[in-house]
Amino acid sequence: MLALTILVSFNLYSLATTTPTLQIAIAPPASSPNAVLSLGPQSLPSPSEPPMTTGSVVTSLETSGNPSIEPFPTALISTSASVQVPSTSKIPLVVQAVSNPTVSAIFAKPISTGPPVNVIGSRPDHPVPRTGLVSQSGKVGTNKFYANFFLGAQTNPVWTHPYSLQWAKGRGAAGSWGMSISHIDAKQRTYGPDPSANPVEYYINPINIQSIILSATELSSSAVLTMDSLTAFSANVNLLTKAGASPAITFPMVQGMGFVTGQYKNVTPYIRSSVFFKTLTPLASPSKGVTKYRILLQDGNTWLLYARADNGTGLSLTAVSSSSIKAPGRFSGTIQIAKNPGAIAGNEITYDSCAGAYPKTVALSGSVAGKSGTYTLSWARAGNTAGLLLFALPHHVQSLVTSSIKITSIKLQTTTKGIATGIIGNSWTLSEPDLPTSIGFAPWDSAIGSTHSLSATAKNTVLKAGKSDLAQDINSQTNLDSMYFSGKALSKFATAIYAVHDLAGDVNVASVGLSKLKTAFARFASNKQINPLVYESQWGGIVSTAAYSTGDPNADFGNSYYNDHHFHYAYFVHTASIIAYLDPTWLTATNKAWVNTLIRDAANPSVADPYFPQSRAFDWYHGHSWAKGLFDSFDGKDEESSSEDTFMSYAMKMWGHVVGDTAMEARGNLMLAVQKRALRNYFLLSSTNVNHPANFINNKVSGILFENKVDHATYFGANPEYIQGIHMLPINPSSAYTRDKAFVKEEWDRYFSNGRAGNVVGGWRGILYSNLALIDPKAAFSFFNVTDFDPQYLDGGASLTWYLALSAGLGGAP
Ligand SMILES: *[C@@H]1O[C@H](CO)[C@@H](O)[C@H](O)[C@H]1NC(C)=O
Ligand SMILES: *[C@@H]1O[C@H](CO)[C@@H](O)[C@H](O)[C@H]1NC(C)=O
Repeated sequence: MLALTILVSFNLYSLATTTPTLQIAIAPPASSPNAVLSLGPQSLPSPSEPPMTTGSVVTSLETSGNPSIEPFPTALISTSASVQVPSTSKIPLVVQAVSNPTVSAIFAKPISTGPPVNVIGSRPDHPVPRTGLVSQSGKVGTNKFYANFFLGAQTNPVWTHPYSLQWAKGRGAAGSWGMSISHIDAKQRTYGPDPSANPVEYYINPINIQSIILSATELSSSAVLTMDSLTAFSANVNLLTKAGASPAITFPMVQGMGFVTGQYKNVTPYIRSSVFFKTLTPLASPSKGVTKYRILLQDGNTWLLYARADNGTGLSLTAVSSSSIKAPGRFSGTIQIAKNPGAIAGNEITYDSCAGAYPKTVALSGSVAGKSGTYTLSWARAGNTAGLLLFALPHHVQSLVTSSIKITSIKLQTTTKGIATGIIGNSWTLSEPDLPTSIGFAPWDSAIGSTHSLSATAKNTVLKAGKSDLAQDINSQTNLDSMYFSGKALSKFATAIYAVHDLAGDVNVASVGLSKLKTAFARFASNKQINPLVYESQWGGIVSTAAYSTGDPNADFGNSYYNDHHFHYAYFVHTASIIAYLDPTWLTATNKAWVNTLIRDAANPSVADPYFPQSRAFDWYHGHSWAKGLFDSFDGKDEESSSEDTFMSYAMKMWGHVVGDTAMEARGNLMLAVQKRALRNYFLLSSTNVNHPANFINNKVSGILFENKVDHATYFGANPEYIQGIHMLPINPSSAYTRDKAFVKEEWDRYFSNGRAGNVVGGWRGILYSNLALIDPKAAFSFFNVTDFDPQYLDGGASLTWYLALSAGLGGAP
């Protein structure tokens, strides 16, 4: 056995080399199967081709959307008409109370386990095939990190952070059919389009760098990739020798996983690299049953390989060429890969102490008590009893309860979220001490709290605008072919009605508006809008029928393909919460179920809801949502509007409050707190931000944050007001919570001060000035309170009534 191994490796090696160096691979003696004899490194010759260390950089971004129709047309028209109030339309004046619920298990209870509301029909089909998905009972997350493995050719990377996995599928210098593992250091990034600019427009990490590929000799061009056990946080990806075979290697994927782990199922390990091996060094076993190798690549990076056989024997590996390391025969057990930048000895000892254990999936739990909330990620572990290593992102490290974990000194760069820190522990509890429980529908900021009443002059000013706004044709303005634009219009009228009712105190005018709004809303709640919704059971969700009827995947911003559901549905949830607040009798079982169905689609809290995946949009690992649905992407998932993301949390909080669902209200509050933290770390970049490159920070916002690229841009154009403004809108009572004053000031000074905002055209001007209300409500109020305010400066989701009420409520009016 021993002699054979040496012979085989020598022969293959001799064929491949021009400058032979002695290399020895040795199997452990049968008497002591775990012992790996350290005979010094196997050195590989320089490869004939250069190491593949630069990868590919693909930066295309379609930004040609027409800003005159997209994204936010001005819908209000100038009118001198005013609301006519019939004498019978009064609604009672209710005083809103916010609550501090204590809820011990905020994810435990599904919103419902019944079918989606009846009025939304169902169909079994969806244009996007479930490529490689093994059928399972729980619905599959369409916007989750692993989606590239079931979309398109299944060859785009999946970022678990800090590592990415990519099916090699015969590509790359190694021509392997295995799973390629990549980790990108900051120095490998590309900055553009002008790398010398400060700030640069974007930075991007190269893809297709095949540092280590976990493969098996049995995998060839007939190999097939499948997935099973998909949850909100984890999935297994399997490589099969051919369609219908049982998995040859299974990779359990969990975000933040400390090792990339391949479970080999009686196949012959074949470890490949397109960066090329320089040395392979067998080392002493770090723990019972674990075999260890150190791998030095031609790019100078050190990686570690740990193997653990199911039957306790070791794994003998031989470097057979600069791109190939091979086992002598079939193996059942795990092979784990980790990178050790700088070959730091202490970090290697930490990796040693964690080798053999790995996470398979994650359970989410959480609770709130008054203003504090916690959420806990608990990993289901497998393998041996070693410490469980996972990587925490910067916002985790800031909020981790440290009692049951060990923070290691291992630091790995992530692609777009700063430096990750290795943490040992079976679960993490993350704490948020300042939930926005005191925020309701009223203007709010941290210094003054909620403002429920205005001065007499301010009331008159708001009411005057309200009478005009509510005289508009609410029905036609909201009867659009887009869920996004319809929802924005409904929400605009809802806030205007709220402001007239609660802040200006005119229940009669509010009643007239409310009754028109109810009629307009009923079109949607009865699913009679231009593009009705449908529940499609192939993926499990409520989608616009627009793409079914037009064949255009991008219809209504890709709603039918699961883009942006949290953005679109937030506006409906928000509208409904104001209607139900002002008129509790509106809260019929059907209206409630319709709204809850939209929330279940975008933000189902529980694994027990059989109709929807858990938390489609919000990613409890990243601390924000991903807007990209079923679109294959070489940049991974992305999100363009951090503010519309938070608006969904706010809408859920308010709906939960109004309908008495305290767990939902608590989740909304907790999500806002987590988002506030994530936004500060990754999206809204104050000058002290350390998570993005120094030459990017002065953009002040991320622009579109992808998993692999950060691009100070939008999908619809490059004007500064678009890029900054899409992270502002809609300015609502929670904006002052998620957008801290120091940041808003820095951003204003950078882009919009000294009259520049006054030159911005269209609805964006109003967006900028409503944002200004967060730091300078007087200036904002005087912008809006002019005679004959031109409604072209209001975007389709904004009313003058609300902007006046907000800036007055924050102290902008006498
Ligand atoms: C352990 O399993 C390996 C394959 O993974 C096999 O080659 C070896 O013979 C087995 N050893 C024992 C002692 O069963
Ligand atoms: C708004 O402007 C009008 C017209 O100039 C003025 O009469 C009114 O007092 C202003 N409102 C407030 C609250 O200052």
